[in-house]
Amino acid sequence: MKKIFYILLLAFICFSCKKNTETISKRGLVSNKAMVVSARVEASQIGADILKKGGNAFDAMVGTGLALAVSYPFAGNLGGGGFMVYRQSNGTVGGLDYREKAPLAATKNMYLDESGEVIPKKSTLGSLAIGVPGSIAGLFDVHEKFGNLPIKDILEPVIALAKKGVVVTKNQAKRLNHYQDQFRLVNNDSLLFYKVWKENDTIKYPALANTLERILKNGRDEFYKGETAKILVKFIHEHGGIITEDDLAKYQAKWRKPITFSYDDLKVISMSPPSSGGICLAQIMKMIEPYNLSEYGHNSLKAIQVITEAERRAYADRSYYLGDPDFVSIPTDQLISDAYLKSRMSDFSFDKATPSSSVSHGNIEVVESNETTHYSIIDQLGNAISVTTTLNGAYGSKLYCSELGFFLNNEMDDFSSKPGVPNMFGLIGAEANSIAPEKRMLSSMTPTIVEKNGDLFMSVGTPGGSTIITSVLQTILNVHEFNMTMQEAVDAPRFHHQWLPDVIQMEPHSFDKNLIKELENRGYSVNEKDSPVIGKVDGILVLNDKRLEGGADHRGDDAAVGF
Ligand code: GLY
Repeated sequence: MKKIFYILLLAFICFSCKKNTETISKRGLVSNKAMVVSARVEASQIGADILKKGGNAFDAMVGTGLALAVSYPFAGNLGGGGFMVYRQSNGTVGGLDYREKAPLAATKNMYLDESGEVIPKKSTLGSLAIGVPGSIAGLFDVHEKFGNLPIKDILEPVIALAKKGVVVTKNQAKRLNHYQDQFRLVNNDSLLFYKVWKENDTIKYPALANTLERILKNGRDEFYKGETAKILVKFIHEHGGIITEDDLAKYQAKWRKPITFSYDDLKVISMSPPSSGGICLAQIMKMIEPYNLSEYGHNSLKAIQVITEAERRAYADRSYYLGDPDFVSIPTDQLISDAYLKSRMSDFSFDKATPSSSVSHGNIEVVESNETTHYSIIDQLGNAISVTTTLNGAYGSKLYCSELGFFLNNEMDDFSSKPGVPNMFGLIGAEANSIAPEKRMLSSMTPTIVEKNGDLFMSVGTPGGSTIITSVLQTILNVHEFNMTMQEAVDAPRFHHQWLPDVIQMEPHSFDKNLIKELENRGYSVNEKDSPVIGKVDGILVLNDKRLEGGADHRGDDAAVGF
């Protein structure tokens, strides 16, 4: 009898140990004071080192952002732009828009042929796809307003990384090999990327190190008015582009008031236009708030239906109403008001899908993309930032300025080249997002900070084009509604609906076949083929005991570093 008791006791202890181990293993990195999570460990490490030597989250933003330009040229950049949302330790919130702008010589119909049809690839590949880059302006504005350390202390480790070189990961080797044909199509000279890459090769970036050294010496204006500006404009003109020295000299980043809204006991702070992220996220969350998602269960039939229907309606509004607020008037208050959103969901029924054709018209295809990059930082003082930055497509326009050592964006494709014709993310735009000189193209980037009961709770964001908004949404819901850890929330399978095409994109092999059948029985189309991954979310969660948990998406090479 005694023996049986001991065996049962042992079995119980083993079971408890296993449970504990499993629980712990599902947590991301936990640290006591500060953390950086980004697409590459080198960039997270440089950001964390900056924090360790007395820098704040804003200093670390500059270092991490530039280190991503070195270690993750797929999306990290000097030749692109982005958005940042912050929450200071005293609760003050704000946002920075360093989105690219259309050049002065841009015209509304610049991507159309004589019969008014969109010319394939003109807005995505090569010099005419480039918007005036905003990254250096944004990073220097952040440093000037909030930085604590001298810029030298921030840039020197990045320059050292560019000189020493970056070890190529398996994912990176695959991407570099895949895109070489496109690099050859648009570049006149031979690029340092022209070889067959293997995991553990090293790439050194001496030209980029020189550019960063000049920027360190001469400041922000080196990029917009100095030797770098002259080299860049000459290079773009040699490749048929229209960006001038005047375009660069006129570029300014803009501080913007973020979109804020409540959801249960959360306050969500996200990016305002010209990103659609904050408004769309607010619309979707306010539309689903009345439904009891936690009771329905994570990725259950009912939860997917409610979220899908809210996404459908929000993306239809995005298409019609949103653009650069400096050029178009956006009815933000109305779009996120309770009354309006309640009326938007009034025709929703669990019995049957609402066809997108009854919300609006169109027939298009979506191609998924992850060519943006996100990083989150919380510092030892309690400041939080959430940054999403991009070249748009993979390696942007594929144009690489060898003399300066960086790729140039193809952000012009985020404008609506022609009303009703989808861009590379399958997104349809209208007049609000048409091209005009100096206008900013509409974005989906959704850098987001969440408070819970008035305290800092989460910093989160992701790459992924049109799927950015819905990936951020699901990550917040996974923690708040379904009690997941940050790492579990980031890793959980995701789905996406964007009004048009009228289809639920699902990550393949991640959803139960019976569930998909049930959705199809109710009139939903499901596509598991075109989106091998939806988003690559990076986030930081403040735990109950005030320690920080990082969630670095297993879908990429993402890494959390903290102390
Ligand atoms: N280029 C992707 C976005 O801004 O949404």
